[in-house]
Amino acid sequence: MAAQVNPMASGESAAAADGAFLAACRRQRGPHRPIWIMRQAGRYLPEYRALREKVDFEALTRTPELAAEVTLQPLRRFPLDAAILFSDIMTPLQGMGVDLAFEPAPVVRQPIRTDRQVEALPALAAARDVPFVLDSIRLVRAGLPRGVPLIGFAGAPFTLMCYLVCGRPSKEFAAARTFLYAQPDTAQRLLGRLADAMAEYLTAQAAAGAQALMLFESWAGLLAPREFSQFALAAVRRTAAALRPLGVPLIYYVNQGATLLPAVRDLDVDVVGVDWRSPLSEVRRLLGSGKAVQGNLDPAALFAPPPELRRHADAVLEEAGPAPGHIFNLGHGIWPDTDPDAVARLVDYVHERG
Ligand code: CP3
Repeated sequence: MAAQVNPMASGESAAAADGAFLAACRRQRGPHRPIWIMRQAGRYLPEYRALREKVDFEALTRTPELAAEVTLQPLRRFPLDAAILFSDIMTPLQGMGVDLAFEPAPVVRQPIRTDRQVEALPALAAARDVPFVLDSIRLVRAGLPRGVPLIGFAGAPFTLMCYLVCGRPSKEFAAARTFLYAQPDTAQRLLGRLADAMAEYLTAQAAAGAQALMLFESWAGLLAPREFSQFALAAVRRTAAALRPLGVPLIYYVNQGATLLPAVRDLDVDVVGVDWRSPLSEVRRLLGSGKAVQGNLDPAALFAPPPELRRHADAVLEEAGPAPGHIFNLGHGIWPDTDPDAVARLVDYVHERG
């Protein structure tokens, strides 16, 4: 269970010491085009499934040695350019006393819908409430090769609110959207609390050793631009403003956000991650030259025969263009039935071509 990976691909030059991923976050030219995979640790890996037969998901996330082991599993197989902490967006909410279960998707036993419940939600103190996350980060950092940084993450406030209000994932998240219209003030108060809690959580992750910080807005696509700006983006601004002084690159992943990108242009983050529905040339045009982009191969493309997978990767690379500031990734999380060999081929191909 030693937290170790193959010392690969990191070379000895100054650029390699900082690494391809952090260079791209800063829109600087690095040693090659970086790639990592959303949900790169998880059920498509036989070694993850083997561990999960013995230990449930929550115990994995709460036991630093195991969380570090799972974080490093994909890096032993593939020369990825970044690691992402193995945890879940709902983990800090559990630390704040929210009663939830992973089945495997998160289920909140008592959804939050009233002012009283919002007022009763305590502030997060990361070192007290989720010490195991910070210990996991320290262990992962000790096991990573030079040039491969660790990404810390949190759910964006609106995406967390969707789970808290609805109780479980759904296609429409009707109760969460109703909440915005029927109780806008309560919604803003809840979003403000979540924004502050995630600022505290990510600040603690950076202090423990996370070298980039990512906010997942997985349910952005539920909203029209007006409501997105008024609720979701306003809360992210509050979190991002608190994190800016840390000097750590910030990544905002916006799922199904094609109509929302003009509003994201003014958000003070370094990188915007997008799903596969928007061509990256268009994303770059909408965001302007002040942001790096991350994405955006359809996770389904990993099921294409190898020559076609290369052509789909080519299409992403061509859309991204030659300018620095592109981090190759999928447009959303990898599917559990993906063949790990397809990931190996993709990572090698992007490094060859990039
Ligand atoms: O490798 C990594 O990316 C790090 C691990 C990670 C997990 N969840 C592990 C996990 C990350 C970054 C997340 C974030 C997360 N969790 C998001 C944002 C990213 C996205 O996909 O949009 C969201 C919306 C969640 C909420 C969540 N947690 C869902 C919907 C599910 C069930 C989905 C599924 O894959 O079954 C979870 C549980 C979960 N989180 C699992 C893993 C590996 C599956 C647990 C298991 O092993 O049974």
